[in-house]
Amino acid sequence: MFSTIALEIRGESNALYRTRDEVQASGPPVVDLVSGNINECGYIFPRNLLEEILVEAAHGLAVYRPDSFGQAAAREAVADFYLKSGCALPPDSILITPGTSLAYWYCFRLLADPGDEILCPRPSYPLFDYIALLAGVNLVPYRMREEENWNIDLAHLEASISTRTRAVALISPHNPTGHVASAEEITALAEIARRHDLAIISDEVFSEALLPARRSLNPEPLPRPAASDAPLVLTLNGFSKMFALPGMKFGWMAVSGDRDKVSQALRSLEIISDTFLPVSEIAQAAAPGIFQLGNAVKFELGNRIRNSWRRTEALLAPWSGRCSYVRPQGGFYVALKLHDLDEERTAEDLLRTQRLLVHPGWFYDMDPHHLVFCFVQKPEVLEECIPRLFAPAAG
Ligand SMILES: Cc1ncc(COP(=O)(O)O)c(C=O)c1O
Repeated sequence: MFSTIALEIRGESNALYRTRDEVQASGPPVVDLVSGNINECGYIFPRNLLEEILVEAAHGLAVYRPDSFGQAAAREAVADFYLKSGCALPPDSILITPGTSLAYWYCFRLLADPGDEILCPRPSYPLFDYIALLAGVNLVPYRMREEENWNIDLAHLEASISTRTRAVALISPHNPTGHVASAEEITALAEIARRHDLAIISDEVFSEALLPARRSLNPEPLPRPAASDAPLVLTLNGFSKMFALPGMKFGWMAVSGDRDKVSQALRSLEIISDTFLPVSEIAQAAAPGIFQLGNAVKFELGNRIRNSWRRTEALLAPWSGRCSYVRPQGGFYVALKLHDLDEERTAEDLLRTQRLLVHPGWFYDMDPHHLVFCFVQKPEVLEECIPRLFAPAAG
């Protein structure tokens, strides 16, 4: 009765989550140090401001007049966001989507036939496996090298291209390594993309969570593939991390590159989006207000993320004999490399003895001996939980 895909995605939980459920059932709650749900970590878009924006947005919505690309005002607001960061992506190159995850699915369907390949970073966020499965495309990993600050192994990436490769996904800032692709890496990636006629899917959902280099006060601006010479770039982003509004389900895709490729992509994307018209009209109508009135919120959020990292770094300092890590340049996560512990056993012990949930590195296809956690937490959670990661019983 069921498709192969349906049987493949039956959602059986893995051993760590079964242990979590068991531990949870028998006492005080487990502290989840891996959830990327920014609201659960105490970051909330101010309620009164959101109410004001939504009430205002509701005024213009008496008659439903959908646009497959998304409401013009919403697209103009997105274009303005890029313009202010020095990147010209005009409103007619922007498609509004209900978040970035579905935008990935659009990209995969736009670029690849069943069995075609998309290059994806390894390590990587596990969500892509499911999106690729649902879209019928194969993910082929390209390496990021921990010993070189998680830089992209461009030689390995190029060697992984086959006649079926259609696109390269770049995640910058990257989840979970915190790597931010440098201007040089992006130029080299664009050259590879041009040599092999590949699109670049640029996932920038953590674009506002940039961390400064050591001894610097401010982070460097984010280098973007959209500003490169790649033949076709699909830039993905949305409100979930940028404004701590994951429930708004508002994202977008900006299409740039060679003129004929951009117009072909936009023609097809219009039909893909028109088939479902999936973005809530009220979310779209609220978008200009969120960009405008939420600017200070975005700024404050960035500051809080940077403070969370500073605190995390200080709390990890006494444990340098037990673990090391590549300092993240952005994003919400850090991957600790354990010096003397088995990652799987440690994650399980941390659940049983400390009631802490962290991920072993294999969840992200990392080499063994890593623990990954989200440092974007309330200060008291960081203060209390980071030392417990190294409690004797957790060995
Ligand atoms: C790297 C990355 N891309 C995309 C997403 C999904 O974003 P959205 O909430 O816009 O669907 C996530 C979610 O955590 C993510 O970590």
